[in-house]
Amino acid sequence: MFERLQQRWKVKGLQLVVIICTFAIGGSVTGYAGRKLMNLLPVDNGWLWSVTYIIIITILWPVIILAISIPLGQYGFFSKYVRRIGVRLRLVKPKENSNKSHLQEVRIAIFASGAGSNAQKIIEHFRNHDSVKVVLIASNKPDAGVLKIAIKENVPTLIIDKEKFFRGDSYLGELQKNKIDWIILAGFLWKVPVALINSFPDRILNIHPALLPGYGGKGMYGQKVHEAVLANRDNESGVTIHYVDNQYDHGKIISQAKCPVLANDTAESLAQRIHSLEHQLYPAVIEQLVARK
Ligand code: GRF
Repeated sequence: MFERLQQRWKVKGLQLVVIICTFAIGGSVTGYAGRKLMNLLPVDNGWLWSVTYIIIITILWPVIILAISIPLGQYGFFSKYVRRIGVRLRLVKPKENSNKSHLQEVRIAIFASGAGSNAQKIIEHFRNHDSVKVVLIASNKPDAGVLKIAIKENVPTLIIDKEKFFRGDSYLGELQKNKIDWIILAGFLWKVPVALINSFPDRILNIHPALLPGYGGKGMYGQKVHEAVLANRDNESGVTIHYVDNQYDHGKIISQAKCPVLANDTAESLAQRIHSLEHQLYPAVIEQLVARK
């Protein structure tokens, strides 16, 4: 639950604790002040008392929570939080020039062929992001797990047909129609056609479950990568995020992270360790890159 809150509110451990304390203190103070105010009003117990009390604490809560957030150093977080609630309740107008305006939106398409655990993490990371949006999940496998994730997360999907991808327009039309800015490969097993690479220069990323340039290239995917690492008795492996060019696992490396290979590792246990590393690294690197351009 706490991990979810950290992702949702984009805050780190200690700040999350302070925010939860602010909510707790704010709630108690609001309740206390509300009852004191009710004592001053000539309203008897009953439904009118309850309705008046609810109205009073609804008005008091944002004021009190903002006041408490100042000494606790959380005014920045709570002013945005309260504003968001106001916008949702249509009490406050959304900022005309906010980052959410369509012009500044950075629109991401994820291409994946598999289970989609990386896609899930990326979607979660950007769910409440000010400007970056995951707007499309494309897959060449109609039964891929990633498509179920897309449906659950309400992200539109696109099934990629081989003929159109390699010998047609490579779905450029669909990508343009969806105003896609970046393509993120997350377990996409097909080579990306040159037409797409040229249309998205330095805007297609891939993640590979090993330390490139080792253990990359055609046929090096999934368990095969980890089996090769184990067969070579390497004592470390890791993940690589790189730009996509016209060769498998070859484009410029953007970021790498290492993890140990343990003596009793199997391809499955190593894959698990690598996956957790990917889940931490990929969303963060994507955010850094797409926000910079
Ligand atoms: C990941 O290990 C990634 O490195 C590779 O494909 C795998 C996809 O896993 N390119 P998932 O479908 O995101 O769980």
